[in-house]
Amino acid sequence: MNSKRHSIQRGQSEQLFERSKALFPGGVNSPVRAFGSVGGTPLFMEKGQGAYIWDADGNRFIDFCCSWGPLILGHAHPRIEERIMEAVRNGTTFGTPTRLENELGSLIVDHHPYVEQVRFVSSGTEAAMSAIRLARGVTGRSKIIKFDGCYHGHVDSLLVKAGSGLATLGTSSSAGVPESYAQETLVLPLNDLEAVEQCVQEYKDEIAVMAIEPIPANNGLLIQDESFLHGLRSICDREGILLLFDEVISGFRVAFDGAAGYYGIRPDVLAFGKIIGGGMPVGAYASSAEVMAHIAPSGPVYQAGTLSGNPVAMAAGAAQLTELLQPGFYKDQERRTKRLIDGILKHSGKAGYPLRIFNRGSIFWLAFSDRVWIRKSSEIDPDSMAYFSRLHGALLNRGIYLGPSGYEVGFVSAAHSDAIIDEAIHAFCSALDEVFESI
Ligand SMILES: Cc1ncc(COP(=O)(O)O)c(C=O)c1O
Repeated sequence: MNSKRHSIQRGQSEQLFERSKALFPGGVNSPVRAFGSVGGTPLFMEKGQGAYIWDADGNRFIDFCCSWGPLILGHAHPRIEERIMEAVRNGTTFGTPTRLENELGSLIVDHHPYVEQVRFVSSGTEAAMSAIRLARGVTGRSKIIKFDGCYHGHVDSLLVKAGSGLATLGTSSSAGVPESYAQETLVLPLNDLEAVEQCVQEYKDEIAVMAIEPIPANNGLLIQDESFLHGLRSICDREGILLLFDEVISGFRVAFDGAAGYYGIRPDVLAFGKIIGGGMPVGAYASSAEVMAHIAPSGPVYQAGTLSGNPVAMAAGAAQLTELLQPGFYKDQERRTKRLIDGILKHSGKAGYPLRIFNRGSIFWLAFSDRVWIRKSSEIDPDSMAYFSRLHGALLNRGIYLGPSGYEVGFVSAAHSDAIIDEAIHAFCSALDEVFESI
């Protein structure tokens, strides 16, 4: 199936990157964009429409990054565009309450079984950070549990990795995070209830919150045993610990009510992100009315934001969530995602390539591995990333854009029609042939 491809033109992106390197650290405003793990010049995008994006050199790609997830309806969706323009014409920010906050708030509260109140912020990082402060405020406890392989934004106490040996006390994973902060974070392996039990016994009555991505999607897609997630719920209930589901990726993506609805597990606190802004900067945290009553001005846990609930972002979010509530939306997302995965696996299976594709809803992750399941970050073979780097380049040359790291997941949007999926399958198969022929 392999058809040799010419490399895409990158002249404009190269020039832009030369300039941006002088302006921004590493030339970018968020590290993964620098193409560090796949090599080559990052592509500077200029336009998106539906499932396609175009870079500064005019190359067109089918986009499976979708701005890292939020664009579940694809680029420049007409209804979102219309609502954004309408909001902009009325003024972009007031620093007062607006009707639009009520609209987006109602869409979430009225259709999510585990949310009674929500507070809007401007990013997923802010959502996770605020949710943790809330949990500490509610319980009067300090320590938090996080799981190795989950990402919750660049919050000091969450930029923490497992300590050495059997120690559960974390150590900071970024310069600039004081070890004293890291010491408040207990880092545990995913999918290991025994480890959670031991830790909870050791730090009894000190743990405020257990934070987890219920569908961990930041270090590959580490599908957890359902019994593990239910086990966390039981331990939290027994020990008076709040269970925080960080649904920045999974929320409104695998189902309107996210992984909580998908698995039927009630979290105590939820963090949401980008997807609720329809492509504008929005995050939120949410819980029962009783728990949310602890937040200022109702209660003593302080949290605020000048641009929180920004009207333009609220309008975009409301337009997007309204579309997601259409009957059959998620079923069709899953169907087209399965079509993509089946199409690629049919070819790679026949050819005997060591490729697996893990998936939940319209999230997918390509793993070069023979393992039936990968549930922990330690089960990912770092050497397998060399395959991904080659595949990434081969796909770019065939008009397919994946996020530039083998640890990142891909996303299918409603704009990825059957025809576009079939075009993508053809490109994936040809790119895989190129990768494995060269070995
Ligand atoms: C699960 C999860 N939580 C939090 C964040 C942080 O969100 P943001 O980048 O909007 O700050 C991310 C970002 O990808 C995420 O995937």
